[in-house]
Amino acid sequence: MPKFFQIAIDGPVAAGCSTVARLVALRLGFLYIDTGAMYRTAALLTLRNNIDLNDEDKVAAIVEKAKIELLNPSESQQDGRLITVLLDSEDISWQIRTDEVSKNSAIVAQYPQLRKVLVSKQQAIAASHDVVMEGRDITFKVLPDADLKIFLTASETVRAKRRHLQEQSKGHDASYQQVYDEMLVRDKRDMERAIDPLQIVPDATVIDTSDLHIKQVVDIIEAKAVAIKNK
Ligand code: C5P
Repeated sequence: MPKFFQIAIDGPVAAGCSTVARLVALRLGFLYIDTGAMYRTAALLTLRNNIDLNDEDKVAAIVEKAKIELLNPSESQQDGRLITVLLDSEDISWQIRTDEVSKNSAIVAQYPQLRKVLVSKQQAIAASHDVVMEGRDITFKVLPDADLKIFLTASETVRAKRRHLQEQSKGHDASYQQVYDEMLVRDKRDMERAIDPLQIVPDATVIDTSDLHIKQVVDIIEAKAVAIKNK
């Protein structure tokens, strides 16, 4: 069986993981997998089917049965999305980006059973594609043998500023302080999660993006990947 090339990227909220991962995938012609989109899809499924958010068994069971496909956006899907998400063939790429889905995805992401289901779906994708996979547990749980492991980070103020700008561009009027405080809550949840908390593995390259342009970060990762491929 051919061995596919795996780039694993982890990092906290607003470290730039999604944008960077998508651009690296474009440069290398790899599939970009935003694993957060899968936790969001789990939350959407729970909402749509009126499943009790606290019923861990049911949440995991419905997600296990669902067909979730993550695709690089096609020519006709260039509407600002970084990834196209199909749930049982329906395009839900934007429906998973609402505030309600965001909030619920953070809750279901705490469930060990659901994480097991999604990790195995993610591993199945990486077994048959060259991937740039990004999330909160990729370097140490989903793809512990990845060819290249990256931990992206940035200072709290830079991340909060980026997030605040994103919120403003969506027309939300949350204050900077609100965004900053919510970000710290999310960080705490990711890093103190009972199962697979966000962590930096010893063989990951840590890139602090606070003072870097996106292109510089993409260049660094691409160069590392090419060097490993040509070894
Ligand atoms: O990154 P994004 O905001 O889309 O992630 C949605 C939710 O899923 C977040 O609460 C995040 O912490 C969680 N998540 C996770 N493990 C991943 C990816 C995302 O717990 N691999």
